[in-house]
Amino acid sequence: MITRKKLIAGNWKMNKTSADAVALVGDLVATIGRQTDVDVVVCPPFTSIETVAKALDGSTLKLGAQNMHPEASGAFTGEVSAPMLRALFATHVILGHSERRAYFAETDAFINKKVLAALKNQLKPILCVGETLAERESGATLKVVQTQLEAGLDGVSKELAPSVVIAYEPVWAIGTGKVATTEQAQEVHAFIRGLLTKLFTEPVAQKVRILYGGSMKPSNAPELLAQKDIDGGLIGGAALEARSFVDLVTAAAAVK
Ligand code: 13P
Repeated sequence: MITRKKLIAGNWKMNKTSADAVALVGDLVATIGRQTDVDVVVCPPFTSIETVAKALDGSTLKLGAQNMHPEASGAFTGEVSAPMLRALFATHVILGHSERRAYFAETDAFINKKVLAALKNQLKPILCVGETLAERESGATLKVVQTQLEAGLDGVSKELAPSVVIAYEPVWAIGTGKVATTEQAQEVHAFIRGLLTKLFTEPVAQKVRILYGGSMKPSNAPELLAQKDIDGGLIGGAALEARSFVDLVTAAAAVK
C-alpha cells in the first residue's frame, strides 16, 4: 500500500504586509521549521514571496504562490509568471481557487493552461475544485467536480501527474465556519481518486495528494485527516496565526 505524506498548505489570501508575513514565518520556522513527517507549504501574497523565501531558507517549509499567469512573460499588466516564481524558489502554486473562479471569471480552460505552464516550469500546481451550495443542493456536486478536474488536468501526462496536488474545497465551506462532514469530504475525495485512476492509472492516482479545504481548523482536522483519501489540508483563516497553523501541522503528523 502506498502511504502518501500529508501536506498542509496555508493560503494567506490577501492578508499580511511583508513585515507581518516575515513575523508569521519566523514563528513557523522556530516551531515547525524542521518538520519532515508532513510537507508544509505557505502561500503568501506576491508582495511577500521574496521576503518569505529568505525567511524560509534553511527550513523544511516550502513556498507557494496563490496564482500565476500561463505565459512566461509579455504584456499582461499586473500578472506574474511561473519562471518569476521559480526564480524566488517557489515550489507550489494554487490554481483555480474558487475565489479566482468567482471574482475574476477564471474558466476551466484558462486554469488548465496555468496547470500545464506550472508543470512545465517544475512548479507543483495545487488545483482547486469544488461545488457551490446551490450545486450541492441540486445534487450536482460530483458532476461539477468531475468537469473541473477533467478540464483542469487536460493534457497532463501520466509522468507529471504525481506532481499535481488536488484541493477539494466546497465553496459553501470556505470562510464560513461550516466544515464538510467527514462523510461528505471522503465521498468526494474517493470520487476524485477514482477519476484520477481513470485518467492516469491506479498506481499514479495512489500517489496524488488530495487536500480538503474549507473551514479546516485544529478542532476538526484530526477526523478529516484520518479519512482514507484526505491527504492534507488547504487552510485559509487558520493559516494566518502561527498557533493554529502549527496545531494543524501537528494534527497531520499525528495521523497514522
Ligand atoms: P478557510 O480555511 O478560511 O475556510 O479558507 C479555505 C480556503 O479557501 C483555502 O484555500
